[in-house]
Amino acid sequence: MAFLQLDNVDKTFFSKDTFTEAVKDISFSVQQGEFVSLIGPSGCGKTTLLSLISGLILPTSGTVKLDGKNIKKPTPETGYMLQQDYLFPWLTIEDNIFLGLKTMDKLTKETKENAIDLLNQMGLKNKLKDYPNQLSGGMRQRVALVRMLSTDPKLLLLDEPFSALDFQTKLKLEDLVYLTIKDHEKTAILVTHDIGEAIAMSDRVILLDHSPGKIHKVFTIPDELKYKQPFEVRNHPSYNNWFQEVWKELESLENSK
Ligand SMILES: Nc1ncnc2c1ncn2[C@@H]1O[C@H](COP(=O)(O)OP(=O)(O)OP(=O)(O)O)[C@@H](O)[C@H]1O
Ligand SMILES: [Mg+2]
Repeated sequence: MAFLQLDNVDKTFFSKDTFTEAVKDISFSVQQGEFVSLIGPSGCGKTTLLSLISGLILPTSGTVKLDGKNIKKPTPETGYMLQQDYLFPWLTIEDNIFLGLKTMDKLTKETKENAIDLLNQMGLKNKLKDYPNQLSGGMRQRVALVRMLSTDPKLLLLDEPFSALDFQTKLKLEDLVYLTIKDHEKTAILVTHDIGEAIAMSDRVILLDHSPGKIHKVFTIPDELKYKQPFEVRNHPSYNNWFQEVWKELESLENSK
């Protein structure tokens, strides 16, 4: 049994006098420990899919199962990280990272220490008493990552978490996030517009088509790239061929709009 299983998932958004078919007939599975990326043109339903997997919204038809159980509402099994860090500006970094634990009623001496350890591992040792506006964008995303990991979710949903960062910070964070996820043996689904990032971080890349969103093609990243850190993948001789292949497919979708 797959860890995450989507079967024939449709999601249509209805408003008073119109409707939008955001995704249609989506089926795929993700194994425990796997890293999967979703890419595709703007509006093809990537965020909708993450919201469905997180349980924030429910499918119009079809099923989403985590560990064999139908997802009906958000669960502590799943952590969600967005493009903007959504740290609370009036709370210190320490209080921000404890927030998830607090809302789940899991704030203990041990979980607090664990969260602070994670923050130290992210190179933010002396930032506990700072406020978010005293930190750079890359630092804030690391805090958001710590906040998500501190509640120990099994499945991580990452919606363009690096897209607001400068290129150098983004490359560094890709490696850090990749290593942290592998270290903690998490399963992850990443939404990104960056083909290179998808190839560098994932075991599989799912390319979605638009209107309505459906799976166009799945790329399985070969072992020679899969087990390397993102920065090394980007420098590997076969990286460019993979980039070109995914790029061509994505271009054909963008042009068929
Ligand atoms: N709450 C909602 N109500 C109505 N329509 C919605 C809602 N959320 C998403 N949609 C529509 O569903 C489609 C898919 O949107 P979604 O945000 O999932 O795309 P996306 O692939 O994440 O796009 P982007 O790459 O720009 O972030 C779009 O047509 C969007 O307008
Ligand atoms: Mg989106």
